[in-house]
Amino acid sequence: MKRGDSSDPNRQSREALYRKELSTILRFGALVSSSLNIEDVLDNAMTWAEEFMDAEASSIYELDEENALLFVRLARGEKKEPVKGITLKPGEGIAGYVVQTGKAMVVHDVTKEKRFSDKFDRITGFKTRSMICVPLIVRNHPIGAIQVINKKSGKTFNRADLELLVSMSQLIAIAMENADLYRRMTEEIHSTTQQLKVTQEKLIRTERLAAMGHLAQGVAHEIRNPVMTIGGFAQRIRNELSDGKLMKYVDIIMEETSRLENLVKQIHEFLDVQTAAFREQGVDSVMDEALRRIKPRADAQAVRLMTDVHVQGLSLLMDPAQIVKALYNLLENAVESMPNGGTLTVTGQKEGTRLLITVGDTGCGISKKMLDSIYDPFVTSKTRGAGLGLTMVHQIVMNHRGEIKIASAENKGTVVSMRLPLHKGS
Ligand SMILES: Nc1ncnc2c1ncn2[C@@H]1O[C@H](COP(=O)(O)OP(=O)(O)O)[C@@H](O)[C@H]1O
Ligand SMILES: [Mg+2]
Repeated sequence: MKRGDSSDPNRQSREALYRKELSTILRFGALVSSSLNIEDVLDNAMTWAEEFMDAEASSIYELDEENALLFVRLARGEKKEPVKGITLKPGEGIAGYVVQTGKAMVVHDVTKEKRFSDKFDRITGFKTRSMICVPLIVRNHPIGAIQVINKKSGKTFNRADLELLVSMSQLIAIAMENADLYRRMTEEIHSTTQQLKVTQEKLIRTERLAAMGHLAQGVAHEIRNPVMTIGGFAQRIRNELSDGKLMKYVDIIMEETSRLENLVKQIHEFLDVQTAAFREQGVDSVMDEALRRIKPRADAQAVRLMTDVHVQGLSLLMDPAQIVKALYNLLENAVESMPNGGTLTVTGQKEGTRLLITVGDTGCGISKKMLDSIYDPFVTSKTRGAGLGLTMVHQIVMNHRGEIKIASAENKGTVVSMRLPLHKGS
């Protein structure tokens, strides 16, 4: 019989083996490029490898570099469940050795291989006789290993088995790397989308407030002079009057004009905080100042003031007058929410790189509906309120690149938290 004769039975079986190997690789290649489900890819890979080699079990190990551990990413075979929680150190056992050296190993008889560790067999009761183990390598860097155990026939693993497993290992490594990239990318996209949403909402709110502020400025400008004139003339009329009834009417005119004057004043105050003059300033002095100012009003209303302030040595790059104003407005709202007394709690402390100030009360609380537009100008529940306090506080916090949050429960109370970036070195 001539060499290469197609009737050579050895050659025929070799060709059949190649065809089987090629078809397994092609099938697997197609799966890797079409499936986004890594678990599916890995499970199919090992099923086909076992089928090809007529093996009893197989597993995929993944290297956790941070913790220097090899863990079982996938296990197949009769004892797959107990195998899943077991870990190896790099260098430990055949898989550990393969990952450490980056070299494949074919072990015909584990009892004669000193690198073999019987850790798995002891735990699971499985009996490993022979195995083949190939590293998973991405850009010259081992990321794990794949292992096929015991041929059912009792024979040992051969060259064809090794060739197949090496080819598969390259595809598996790429698939695992891609899955990891895909997962990281999805996480990143998710977090970027969240950030974008928050930024967009902030922007819309800031723009809306700016537009409203602009409108308010125009109105204030227009009504300021007429209001002053009406007030002035009403006073002069009152001076001339002796009729008690008319005097009452004039008093009403004067009261209403003073309300309007107050509104104009507050609009101007709000417009004043559109820009800020920054300087480095200690936090304790501004907090003291705001607390000192609110004290008489709190006392007058039987509001108990509790402070838990730890801000010694902390400083901000701030416009001090604005920060006092913002704090005072929060304290004022809190006191006004407790006409029949209550507790006003003020805290101040460092939180990472920021200063956290909270103002809490046991007052009437804010309805959910109102909370949605609480920073909008002219939103108020008070007869004498302009509804510009929180609009101004919001603007001041934005000026200082800070953050403000309000948590409130009706008839229970409100807590306002303000976070402001601390000056470096604080
Ligand atoms: N601590 C608080 N407790 C209850 N309601 C509050 C509190 N702070 C703010 N509010 C509600 O938000 C509204 C707007 O507050 P603000 O902008 O300061 O305007 P104003 O105090 O002039 O009404 C208040 O009228 C009140 O209804
Ligand atoms: Mg207010």
